[in-house]
Amino acid sequence: MFEEIRIEKHLAEDEKYRLLLSQLKKLLTSEDNFISNLSNCTAAIKDTFEKISWVGFYLFDGENLYLGPFQGKVACTNINIGNGVCGSSAARRETIIVPDVNKFPGHIACDSESKSEIVIPITNKNELFGVLDLDSHEFNSFVETDKKYLEEICKFLAEEIFHP
Ligand code: SME
Repeated sequence: MFEEIRIEKHLAEDEKYRLLLSQLKKLLTSEDNFISNLSNCTAAIKDTFEKISWVGFYLFDGENLYLGPFQGKVACTNINIGNGVCGSSAARRETIIVPDVNKFPGHIACDSESKSEIVIPITNKNELFGVLDLDSHEFNSFVETDKKYLEEICKFLAEEIFHP
């Protein structure tokens, strides 16, 4: 089994994302346990980008979001749909980029050092599975490149891992 992510640190961000996506497609398989796959996914993303202070999943239980596999400091365990960046992204079924968390009304601060954030919903045919949340200790860490490739990663997860 493929168990290593190899992405050189000096590469441009979009090249790192391209390599990450292709390697994730080999690393994560529907034959492996769901929790194992999500755990490895967070480790691979965190390992690839130094700007990320926290990356993890909030999973939808049919009513609200609960904390899933993640890398980083301990985090809040439950988020209501519509609350914070995660709950807003889940409610709207769209990616939210937050360049400055202090300016997002209702932002839930799990880590007081967090400065910017991106949240991507994980959906398939409008069915919500959860969200992928990435935080950074720097302002303006996430841009359209992050959105584009993280949405591709979430599409792959929705189709192959959440509901194969
Ligand atoms: N900031 C998120 C909460 C989760 S933590 O960032 C890990 C939010 O506002 O939904």
